[in-house]
Amino acid sequence: MRVNGFHFRAVNWHVESDGMQWIDQRLLPHRFEQLVSNHPEDAAVAIESMQVRGAPSIGATAAYGLALAWKKDKEQFFDHWLPRFRGTRPTAVNLFHACDMMKRCAETYPTTSQMIECAQGYADSEVEANRRMGGYMAELLAVGERRILTHCNAGWLAAVDWGTATSGIYHLVQAGEKPFVWVDETRPRLQGARLTAWELSQEGIGCRIQADGAAAWMMANGKVDAIVVGADRIAANGDVANKIGTYALSLAAREHGIPMYVAAPCSSFDKGCPSGGDIPIEQRDDDEVLYMDGLDGAGRLQHVRVAAPGVPANNPAFDVTPNANLSGIISEHGLWRG
Ligand code: MRU
Repeated sequence: MRVNGFHFRAVNWHVESDGMQWIDQRLLPHRFEQLVSNHPEDAAVAIESMQVRGAPSIGATAAYGLALAWKKDKEQFFDHWLPRFRGTRPTAVNLFHACDMMKRCAETYPTTSQMIECAQGYADSEVEANRRMGGYMAELLAVGERRILTHCNAGWLAAVDWGTATSGIYHLVQAGEKPFVWVDETRPRLQGARLTAWELSQEGIGCRIQADGAAAWMMANGKVDAIVVGADRIAANGDVANKIGTYALSLAAREHGIPMYVAAPCSSFDKGCPSGGDIPIEQRDDDEVLYMDGLDGAGRLQHVRVAAPGVPANNPAFDVTPNANLSGIISEHGLWRG
């Protein structure tokens, strides 16, 4: 999608340097910076350190990173680089699908160009899946539902391009509609406030950032027509792991009779995982809860502590929403009710 009118992807192959290029999402919305590297370790660190985050973008970064591993260090590909990438984050299953796909490609002993094509094909197919699911989503939302609530960032930064949850919103806009988006700020890392609101405003889409705790109250007051979120892993029974706070949204949505959809490509499905209880949930550093980043009055990025020294935190990064709480899951193949 667009930044200052120019088209970007969250992560892409950089032909000029024969390496990978990605947007450092930790700096947004204050600074827009792209990084380039042709070392696979930089790609693995980009995922671990959340320079790149969001399930489909994580998968695409691993695919490009493994293409770099093949190019630079073929001998270590199977024993070092595959486990290295698989260990970067535990919950988003797209990462593991991307690693499996690159492994299958490597087993054919391809040329470096063929490995790069394989990674490129993976990223392109994610983008196409997002575009297609947005068409289905827009049809569902085109029945009077216009005030859409979303949580975390399931936008193009998280999904290479288009986004998953946001793709339907962009399709509505392209059809001349004027959707409005309630953006949950999404503590602790604020992916909603920092990333989703920035993406939407770059596309001229009306939105407001709200505290996560405001969501149920807005539903109770009839101000939310539909909720659309993304997914990090969808179990075989249709239970969905997504950013912490999604489960609470689903409870409020059910209570108030508000449709809640998950938008996710097939790469977010895990047939080998029977139900939500089998999904590994990432527990992240306490500091994400205890500290915040932002600009000070002089425009300098600052990292400040918000809690009393010595108080520990609890920081599960994801939760599981039972399929029964959802109105449906939209993928590139259409609507699935589970
Ligand atoms: O921890 P993050 O920022 O990687 O979590 C991202 C999410 O939970 C997204 O909602 C999910 O990956 C869907 S992305 C289209």
